[in-house]
Amino acid sequence: MFEDVVAYIRHLFPGRESIPLHEPVFAGRERDYVLAAIDSTFVSSVGKFVEQFERMMRDYTGASYAVATVNGTSALHAALLVAGVRPGDEIITQSLTFVATANAITYCGAQPLFLDVDRDTLGLSPAALAAFLREHTEQTGEECRNKTTGRRISACVPMHSFGLPCRIAEISDLCQGHNLMLVEDAAESLGSTRHGRHTGTFGHLGVYSFNGNKTVTCGGGGAIVTGDEKFAAHAKHLTTTAKKPHPYRYEHDEVGFNYRMPNLNAALACAQLENLELFLAAKRRLAGQYQEFFRHRAAISFVVEPPECRANYWLNTVLLADSASRDLFLNEVCGAGIQTRPAWELLNRLKIYRHCQTDSLANANWLADRIVNLPSSVRL
Ligand SMILES: Cc1ncc(COP(=O)(O)O)c(C=O)c1O
Repeated sequence: MFEDVVAYIRHLFPGRESIPLHEPVFAGRERDYVLAAIDSTFVSSVGKFVEQFERMMRDYTGASYAVATVNGTSALHAALLVAGVRPGDEIITQSLTFVATANAITYCGAQPLFLDVDRDTLGLSPAALAAFLREHTEQTGEECRNKTTGRRISACVPMHSFGLPCRIAEISDLCQGHNLMLVEDAAESLGSTRHGRHTGTFGHLGVYSFNGNKTVTCGGGGAIVTGDEKFAAHAKHLTTTAKKPHPYRYEHDEVGFNYRMPNLNAALACAQLENLELFLAAKRRLAGQYQEFFRHRAAISFVVEPPECRANYWLNTVLLADSASRDLFLNEVCGAGIQTRPAWELLNRLKIYRHCQTDSLANANWLADRIVNLPSSVRL
């Protein structure tokens, strides 16, 4: 039923027995930088590559401040704490996201509240957010409270799914109007922009991941970006064990975390970032080919970047007609040695998050039945 799709993907990645969903490319100065880090003996949490990485992230995204972390999940956790999230709070996010988004909320002692996504961006829907805020919350002084639970809602964490920018400017306006801190989960969307502005830089804080499957990888790594000097200083402090600066005394003024990115990983990240625009051009070329192919293929639609956006097309995505054809597609294409995968299980369906409040999730439920991610590695 999907022989033409199998043949086309094989033609895109010639000479490959099995085709992975996303594999890294080390075609730049990765070896040189990693060896330089080893030769310097600074392989751990201090070193010139960590500073260089933070500078490169600032320069690339246009954020005023960047803090390197050991992975994207720890970056999210620290960003939420810096945003003032407290135990007992509720945090608005989307149900269609990777589990790390909700886990980071839980690490703070807070509880996620899952709202719907838009069908075109696959990210948090401002219409759903506005409806929820209107119908289910009230302002008490400076705080937004959930009328059902009486709990404070302190922040909102939208996610740019598969690198497609969500309607972040509208979400930002809603957050501002309701005293919600905005923490962007841009783990998947490094290089994606809306109106020329980088995803991750619309919120009070934004977070990226450099995991092995991401557009830019350093094995494992993360970053927090912000335009606020105090947030940046607090993020750096919290992620580096909250040690007060002193040449030899070990004094810690809050319970911090060892969330530091090792210099060895930062060396890899710097070399990868040097090639980011090259990677993005290659990924956009691939997305263009998929788009053209699926334009002529009935019953499967390719998800294109929203208007006035540039997507990094981290994972190319198609929508099948229904869950039955999605499963047929996955069985046949995976069976042919081509890695494809469905959307994550909606987080509200996981046993660990089943108790959390949701809205109708009409679009998320619809999408969860239809989404398939296609091989999306950079081809140079
Ligand atoms: C949406 C989202 N949030 C958070 C993360 C967590 O990042 P990491 O794997 O670097 O901890 C990931 C990716 O892995 C992700 O896709």
